[in-house]
Amino acid sequence: MNFHLNIILFATIISFTQNALSYPTTIELKGQKDDHRIVGGQNTTIDKHPHMLSMQYFSNHMCGASVLSKTWALTAAHCFGATDPLMDFLTVRAATSFHGQGGIQHKVKTIIRHEDYLGYDNDIALLELKDPLEFNNMIQPIKIPKQNEFLKPGIIAVAIGWGKTENDDYLSAQLQEVYLFTISEEICMELYSDQFTRNMMCAHYPLGGKDSCTNDSGGPLVVGDTQIGIVSWGPSPCGNSIYPGVYTKVSSFSTWINCYTGI
Ligand code: ARG
Repeated sequence: MNFHLNIILFATIISFTQNALSYPTTIELKGQKDDHRIVGGQNTTIDKHPHMLSMQYFSNHMCGASVLSKTWALTAAHCFGATDPLMDFLTVRAATSFHGQGGIQHKVKTIIRHEDYLGYDNDIALLELKDPLEFNNMIQPIKIPKQNEFLKPGIIAVAIGWGKTENDDYLSAQLQEVYLFTISEEICMELYSDQFTRNMMCAHYPLGGKDSCTNDSGGPLVVGDTQIGIVSWGPSPCGNSIYPGVYTKVSSFSTWINCYTGI
């Protein structure tokens, strides 16, 4: 490979990686003491969450995503920079409990970031797959709520992902799940003031120690058979007892999703 191409490739990997892992995904909280353990979750398997995808760049897990249909997946806009990554190397891995092995890789044809994605707001993107997924017990679509459907606070939701299990540098080889409680928008707005918008929702575990974390971004927060949230941002370290994880509120975007996908 010639030198010039090498540099471009390297720069693209770096910028994609940085964008996936930094601002606006995390807010720094100083001096918080918590047990940072999806922190605080447990091993789970893909047949329990057959809508789960690992979004990968050069076969490295970057973000979570979820299956909406045979050709459409849902993820977070902040998983990408302003320009597209090298599309030949962007895949979603389906039908596996392990991000590093098994399942099948599907190339992504198009990334549609929300037109008003800015900072923390409208953190949603659609991925159109090159070839359709074949549904089976390990690949199934997830339902999304109706536009502006009211979400009760205080209900149990499950977050899943291969993100960090401690506030360290390691991904989880096996898919993790963690059960959290949804929080009212009013409380979240009080906690996060201007950073929180009506296109977001919060979920937490009141004692702390259970949360989504870095590289869980783009993955689903699910109640029953419906995806209500997309992992977006939250406290760092993860698992804070006061500051909850923040998720893109899917019900704010049902019409937007429908416009592109017909779903
Ligand atoms: N933005 C992170 C990611 O890139 C997700 C952070 C979620 N943090 C939290 N404390 N819930 O994967």
